[in-house]
Amino acid sequence: MPASIAVLDVIKRFRMRGTDVLALDHVRLKLDAGCFGAIIGPSGCGKSTLLRMVADLFEPTDGRIDIGGAPPSRLRREHAIGFVFQSPTLLPWRTVIDNVRLPLRIAGIAEADAPRKPADLIGLVGLKGFENALPGQLSGGMQQRAAIARALVMNPQVLLLDEPFGALDEITRQRLNTELLRIWAESGTTALLVTHSIAEAVFMADRVFVMSPRPGRIETTIEVDLPRPRSLGMMNTTAFHAIEGAVREALFAHESPDAATSGGADRP
Ligand SMILES: Nc1ncnc2c1ncn2[C@@H]1O[C@H](COP(=O)(O)OP(=O)(O)O)[C@@H](O)[C@H]1O
Ligand SMILES: [Mg+2]
Repeated sequence: MPASIAVLDVIKRFRMRGTDVLALDHVRLKLDAGCFGAIIGPSGCGKSTLLRMVADLFEPTDGRIDIGGAPPSRLRREHAIGFVFQSPTLLPWRTVIDNVRLPLRIAGIAEADAPRKPADLIGLVGLKGFENALPGQLSGGMQQRAAIARALVMNPQVLLLDEPFGALDEITRQRLNTELLRIWAESGTTALLVTHSIAEAVFMADRVFVMSPRPGRIETTIEVDLPRPRSLGMMNTTAFHAIEGAVREALFAHESPDAATSGGADRP
């Protein structure tokens, strides 16, 4: 069962060389169960920190996170959160299928009782035939497919993705994004994706959360009412461009006119 995600006035401070650094300031975000959300913002604004707090990998300094009525710590204990990192995190000495099985092993669950069968997930992510390959024998895109299969093996209520295809070329990324939408629709989880691509955020999401530069806040939430299933052709429509424009405007709302033009020579 997919769960809703609510981030309620979350503040995150890091202690760095004796001083407090405010990374996130009163972040508020709401995503309904089963929906696809995208978080977009400039580098260093706290996107990864926010996603890690939702995954219970970091604790908020203040505020609260609620996933389907429970704190993230409970979902993590129940293995109900799937996480895909930007850099490949597969164990290089284990085969693809053994990597996908890993969360079962950690949770002490026999394969026969697996919430989702590793072999089926390998098919779902398009890696049939590569079950016994080692990660080093796969392309970066294939490794991330395997990481997605691994994140789904416990049939998570939420799937969190931190720039999963950020290291890949644009053509591969576009193909994987289309696949990710298919996988998400099939698996029925709530998805929250961190990206720094405006087009990617709009293409993927039902709701885009635009963050300000550090200290990160949610500047604006933009609804994407494009129909599903999404197709690449939609990226050339007026409706798509209008939403992209709204996201861009929100992203650069903080820039001074001097920064946006070249030195403000046109100003009186
Ligand atoms: N473990 C940490 N200790 C200290 N500062 C951190 C830590 N993790 C992140 N930060 C700081 O918090 C800010 C946000 O980082 P991050 O969440 O990685 O941003 P983003 O993913 O948007 O690029 C940065 O200024 C970063 O230096
Ligand atoms: Mg990051």
